[in-house]
Amino acid sequence: MRLAGDFNYETHGQHYSTIRRPDPRIAAYLHAALGDAKTVINVGAGAGNYEPEDRDVTAIEPSASMRSQRPSRLTPAVDAVAGELPFPDNSFDAAMAVLTVHHWPDADQGLREMRRVSRGPVIVLTFDGDLVNRLWLNDYTPELFTAEARRYPAISHIQAVLGGTSTVTPVPIPVDCTDGFTEAFYARPAMFLDPAVRASQSAWGFVSPAVVERGMADLRRDLENGEWHRKYGAIASQSSYEGAVRLVAALP
Ligand SMILES: C[S@@+](CC[C@H](N)C(=O)[O-])C[C@H]1O[C@@H](n2cnc3c(N)ncnc32)[C@H](O)[C@@H]1O
Repeated sequence: MRLAGDFNYETHGQHYSTIRRPDPRIAAYLHAALGDAKTVINVGAGAGNYEPEDRDVTAIEPSASMRSQRPSRLTPAVDAVAGELPFPDNSFDAAMAVLTVHHWPDADQGLREMRRVSRGPVIVLTFDGDLVNRLWLNDYTPELFTAEARRYPAISHIQAVLGGTSTVTPVPIPVDCTDGFTEAFYARPAMFLDPAVRASQSAWGFVSPAVVERGMADLRRDLENGEWHRKYGAIASQSSYEGAVRLVAALP
């Protein structure tokens, strides 16, 4: 089977929607950036996280497993890819892509397609690859972040491809963030020991099982002997964490 992106959501994404629930505080940033758009295309929509329910949303999602996890109150997603959006120019008031551009085989082409079909804002929530290794987990599995850094298009590059006028906003991660991406567990280290949590974070698919085993054994040991709390307890006490999450919003 040919994959639309760099990670197999058919086999690894089956429990995505239990671990990766939209966080309302992050959603507020996205919905504000959409302005007064009434029609929105959501590219790489997955199970529908962050889709504004007060607007007319067209969702694009190539993985059948992800499409099947969309709640019934949302419209079914169209089976298509970012690089070839099946809509005429300027079809929508706005376009959004959330935590997905790093999966696309040709991110530039997908971004150009979003720009083409939106007559208003194009908003992209992504991670800054230069910052991902700031998380303490880098001390346990540096290989994870080396692989991650290579996957993310540079923020300035996303801005350049989208053109027009754009802003970049750091999005703080709440301590109890409900969307279980890697940084979301900055204060809940034991969560990484759960294979179901790691399976819903695509980064782990890019490192060897030996690396995971070693890193998780070290983390478990440090949690048990108190070393983790001695080293990183101050981070765990923060009510939010400014990590690598960035919102790029571009107007034509
Ligand atoms: C981490 S999930 C994010 C899903 C959703 N936007 C969210 O915030 O939960 C990444 C999604 O990108 C999709 N994807 C991968 N390659 C794609 C492509 N070429 N075009 C569009 N979507 C793609 C995957 O199938 C997956 O559903």
